[in-house]
Amino acid sequence: MANQEDVFKKVISHAKEYGYVFQSSEIYDGLSAVYDYGQNGIELKKNIREYWWQAMVQLNDNIVGIDAAIFMHPTTWKASGHVDAFNDPLIDNKDSKKRYRADVLVEDHVAKIEAKIHKEVTKAAKRFGDSFDKEQFLSTNQRVLDYQAKADDILKRLGKSLENEDLADVKALIEELEIACPLSGSKNWTDVKQFNLMFGTKLGASADSAMDLYLRPETAQGIFVNFLNVQKTGRMKIPFGIAQTGKAFRNEIVARQFIFRMREFEQMEMQFFIKPGTQQKWYETWKEKRLNWHLSLGMGEENYRFHDHEKLAHYADAAADIEFKFPFGFKELEGIHSRTDFDLASHEEYSGKKLQYFDPEENKSYVPYVLETSIGLDRMFLAVFSNSLQEEELENGTTRTVLKLPAVLAPTKAAILPLLKRDGLPEIAHKLIDDLKWDFNVIYDEKDAVGRRYRRQDAAGTPFCVTVDHQTLEDETVTIRHRDTMEQQRVALSEVKDIISKKVDMRYWLQRI
Ligand code: GAP
Repeated sequence: MANQEDVFKKVISHAKEYGYVFQSSEIYDGLSAVYDYGQNGIELKKNIREYWWQAMVQLNDNIVGIDAAIFMHPTTWKASGHVDAFNDPLIDNKDSKKRYRADVLVEDHVAKIEAKIHKEVTKAAKRFGDSFDKEQFLSTNQRVLDYQAKADDILKRLGKSLENEDLADVKALIEELEIACPLSGSKNWTDVKQFNLMFGTKLGASADSAMDLYLRPETAQGIFVNFLNVQKTGRMKIPFGIAQTGKAFRNEIVARQFIFRMREFEQMEMQFFIKPGTQQKWYETWKEKRLNWHLSLGMGEENYRFHDHEKLAHYADAAADIEFKFPFGFKELEGIHSRTDFDLASHEEYSGKKLQYFDPEENKSYVPYVLETSIGLDRMFLAVFSNSLQEEELENGTTRTVLKLPAVLAPTKAAILPLLKRDGLPEIAHKLIDDLKWDFNVIYDEKDAVGRRYRRQDAAGTPFCVTVDHQTLEDETVTIRHRDTMEQQRVALSEVKDIISKKVDMRYWLQRI
């Protein structure tokens, strides 16, 4: 089996080869951690965004959407805590001159310990066969228990030192664990320092009157500052939510994982405004709802897990990540945060404007609490894309590369293929395209033998191929070939639209939530 690094390299090269993701400004040798989406990438991204939007806004009568500007008044970021606390602890290796996030170095070390546990489990599963009880093994095997205790201790200490801003202890931890620079192997480290992740810019023409601005590092604050506008104009009653998708910018230091961690990326966030004291209930509710949204795409229950935060962000009283199994292991895909009244109360204080809700049931006003769900669109793209890319051994001994994107998200739903470029077959294919293109994206392909065309569409992620052949001339039937099973189905031309529509319709998928 290919190792993780090879699998990830394959994901990156396939994304480029099939028009999904390109390095930004590639002709100038690219810009680090900035990417462009190609002709297929934009469609997949748009479909993911729409799948999220429908689940959030269209299907919940108490959630509405907005689109706030990227530029915001600079005091926003003072109030939100980003000016003072949106920092990463950084450490430099004196020999390689490479800069790292100190917490990531420690977490990567812990991931190696966890990999050892996984290895023990795999070994034992092989040894015990069908009688293997994983839960029992994990809770009784001494070696596993020792590894687990070690991992837990390290994370606990890291959480505590970060919370107490004890950066000297973070460095001490790195030294005690004998963590080496992944590039040079050197253990010659500088002290750990804090580094603010926001990009600064200026608004205005002349140097003296220009105002210092930040590119927003999250979309959430655009929602908070519009809380009353939306609540009043929409006559919203608590509990209610405001959803938004849009670009965010962070000057990330560790940015070597393709579109997993970018400097310019897109978020899909929802702030749910609730009565103070009900946050625990809503926290559990949204954790479950969001996991179900992910599971509805059918990418394997085993590829998701929750990770509860030890170290809470400055605004949260509880937080968990939904982690996904990326080619480089389980990593954060989405965050669910109980943000208390931190943001609204702080904006009240800094703006001097009341941001309160009058609760008719309680007959009093209060600053609502907030439950947030926040997912990176690009990170979701990577989850879907990497999970879908598969190499399959076929019965005839050959292999095929197939991008098994959930059909609802696939950029092109069907390729229409005339078996030959003559005998009136292309005309029928074009007529079918003219009919289908009103409902979903279709593509025409007449080049090469039909088998090669199937392979091309498999690799591009197209879930259906419709082949027009000589029998079509006789009885108006065509073949629908299914990407995942390679099954072929003879159907009436008039049925094609219905058959494919059902399989790609968001309604069909979202009903599983
Ligand atoms: N408003 C809360 C917030 O922004 P976060 O955990 O910092 O929370 C939320 O970010 C999500 O945004 C993450 O779970 C991840 O999916 C995505 N994200 C964060 N930083 C990112 C980056 N540099 N590149 C791509 N996606 C990112």
